[in-house]
Amino acid sequence: MEKLRIYGGKKLKGRVKISGAKNAAVAILPAALLADDTCLIDNLPYIDDVIVLADILKEMGAYVKLNPQGSIEINVSKMKEYRAHYDMVRRMRASYYLLGVLLAKFGKAEVAFPGGCAIGTRPIDQHIKGFEALGAKVVLEHGVIKAYADKLVGSEIYLDVVSVGATINIMLAAVRAEGTTTIVNAAKEPHVVDVANFLNSMGAKIKGAGTDTIRIKGVDKLSGCEYTIIPDQIETGTYMIAAAATGGDVTVVDVIPKHMEAVTAKLLEMGMEVIEGDDEIRVIGRQRPRKVNIKTQPYPGFPTDLQQPMSALLSIADGVSVITENVWEARFKHLDEIARMGGNAKIEDRVAIIQGVEKLYGAPVIATDLRAGAALIIAGLIAEGVTEISNVEFIDRGYETIEHKLVSLGADIERVDENGKTRRLTLVEGTAAL
Ligand code: UD1
Repeated sequence: MEKLRIYGGKKLKGRVKISGAKNAAVAILPAALLADDTCLIDNLPYIDDVIVLADILKEMGAYVKLNPQGSIEINVSKMKEYRAHYDMVRRMRASYYLLGVLLAKFGKAEVAFPGGCAIGTRPIDQHIKGFEALGAKVVLEHGVIKAYADKLVGSEIYLDVVSVGATINIMLAAVRAEGTTTIVNAAKEPHVVDVANFLNSMGAKIKGAGTDTIRIKGVDKLSGCEYTIIPDQIETGTYMIAAAATGGDVTVVDVIPKHMEAVTAKLLEMGMEVIEGDDEIRVIGRQRPRKVNIKTQPYPGFPTDLQQPMSALLSIADGVSVITENVWEARFKHLDEIARMGGNAKIEDRVAIIQGVEKLYGAPVIATDLRAGAALIIAGLIAEGVTEISNVEFIDRGYETIEHKLVSLGADIERVDENGKTRRLTLVEGTAAL
């Protein structure tokens, strides 16, 4: 159990390169199992979720060469396994994408149900409804979801909720189905579009990704390809918010500004300066943030995954901010931790009412999930004194080399291992090094 120790109060300054999108990567890696030959995937974030997923694919018989510099080679010509056991999938929620992929590839899939998580129950009824509409029989037996189909046949599927996971999983299953599948009320997130683009690079025929109606014309064969993953929208937003929170001046580099419009709009509303370039965004924290209200929504609305980091920033806003969490039912646990640092928030069901305070003070806190961890890092950067964040493994699941990036921007942060030994990075010519 490692901890991050942050000596707060430093303004972040400089340029930070954003990594490839986690939520695209965790779907694209399993999607590569659909190709007849090698896929070479670039701009892969080297994060724990990706490392675990690469291991799962290896255990299932795929040839996987993961390069820590950010690429992966996957070839499945010898793979016969259509089952993923609990020991494999419990380490990673998004392993449900294996269901759609294995069903399309082998006509059968058995994947242990990964279970709930700290941000609320994570049902997959819409994924299952989609597979059944394509002609699969799906049962849950002893914690394992089993799906079988002699053949998958295209169909029209209306999603009852806008679900990223269901949209992607149905696309994965439908690419090899006979005929055309239409997903109505589909998710429009940038990572949904990225997965569709990856599948199209393999020879799939998907149209409409990024709108609420996606059409997938099934094909007989998908081939290997070379593909570059888009930049991570949530990591980008996290550094933008951290810049604003510390009164800093940070340019996030290699990003797609269009994906960040909801965040940019809120930062401007708070009185921050945001300057967009073609593939970079500069955020200057000009003043104590003004209060704002936020309602999380599917894309292009304000992303739920940035609600937690943003609420850390709002904890020092001038006035009362109201956050309505419309996507996950239990996503305010980090506010109890920020309260230990002097924050003042009242939570009523899916609404958090945050009374901004002038200052936060360092304290020991616990990350309860990935983005809660990001929120606590931001709180720690703002706070006076020392903040120690436990459960860092949540943060490592989704943020690549987070201390390197923060130290490069001037943060004072170190990692404490389970034996209490500290690992501290220093700044060498603009880059952080051990
Ligand atoms: C993905 C992201 C996660 C993000 C979420 C919403 C990945 C790996 N994770 O999660 O970081 O917070 O999108 O942007 O991409 N729902 C159902 N039935 C279903 C599926 C979902 O009721 O079958 C509900 C969920 O309970 C939730 C909402 O739909 O309230 C959105 O969930 P969904 O978009 O599916 O989230 P994930 O794909 O799991």
